[in-house]
Amino acid sequence: MPLATSKDVLLKARAEGYAVGAFNLNNMEMAQAIVQAAEEEQSPVIIQASQGAIKYAGLEMITAMANVLAENATVPVVLHLDHGTDYKQNVKCLRAGFTSLMFDGHELPLEQNIAMTAKIVDIAHSVGLPVEAEIGSVLTIENLLTDAEMAEIRALEVPKQFEVLRKKIGPKVDEHIARPEEAKRFVDETGVDFLAAAVGSVHGLWLDIWPLRVDRLKEIYEATQIPIVSHGSSGVLIDRAMAEAKGVELAPGEGSLKDAIKLGYTKINVATALSMEFNRAMLAAAAKRPGEKDPRKLLGPARDAVKEKTKEYIRLFDSQGKVGVVGATSAAAFGGGEVARGEE
Ligand code: G3H
Ligand code: ZN
Repeated sequence: MPLATSKDVLLKARAEGYAVGAFNLNNMEMAQAIVQAAEEEQSPVIIQASQGAIKYAGLEMITAMANVLAENATVPVVLHLDHGTDYKQNVKCLRAGFTSLMFDGHELPLEQNIAMTAKIVDIAHSVGLPVEAEIGSVLTIENLLTDAEMAEIRALEVPKQFEVLRKKIGPKVDEHIARPEEAKRFVDETGVDFLAAAVGSVHGLWLDIWPLRVDRLKEIYEATQIPIVSHGSSGVLIDRAMAEAKGVELAPGEGSLKDAIKLGYTKINVATALSMEFNRAMLAAAAKRPGEKDPRKLLGPARDAVKEKTKEYIRLFDSQGKVGVVGATSAAAFGGGEVARGEE
């Protein structure tokens, strides 16, 4: 089927109380693995490309891969721009045939973030494309800790890791959590479709231990009534039942990813966990086959591993078997990709 839009799959998910995975692709094998996983689980899926991935593979290549994968799939597949940091990037993706956009203006003062988001929403909505935007800041672990500090933390016993992390990065993360009144104003003034509201997660953490401020998430969802997007999902505590084993002491108002899905999280972005899985399996295959000439013998196992990991996430988000979309609003119906090309 043609690429679906994120609105097609996320409004249904919100209404029915589950979430849809938005998985970052870095190459053909990851894109195939993600869509194969969705196919096997009969789940809607969002494949998303960061600006870095677009630079690496090329915009046309990414769009072509996504189109072929979607056309051959029996489940809804969305192609989303992840963390588009300017107007031009969003317009390029719109014109190339992406079916979902993101403007990340978290570094801008609120007024400017609102103005630019509104401008992108305006052009995107004119061709039926939904837009996600960020409020508050989901920080990145590499900007908070050095590689050496992170390596020290990883070397600790699991229950100790959280205690040290909380001390080192907790206060800074708290400072950047989104505020409900600002979130409401942002949504009212921009018309944005989905909100990447910072509620305590951190990009790139991949330890499954970091709690979310689910109290703040609840307030933001209640104030805005639009699907909330989870960024930095690889490091988040998945289930509060795991807290004790992970050494996590939940403070009042904190909770897990599973709690958050009940309270408004609807699009869950996963990048680091899949990349780590890809690299782990590829390196394991390389270690088993020193001197291997055929790259497929290394990349094939990595693709399989990413597929299995993606299936785990799909089941965690409870989107398996949920293949219908809201309305007949596929990108093709909107004319996605029909805007004149060749002027970039
Ligand atoms: O935009 C992408 C996500 O926020 C991914 O975060 O790398 O921590 O899974 P992650
Ligand atoms: Zn992100």
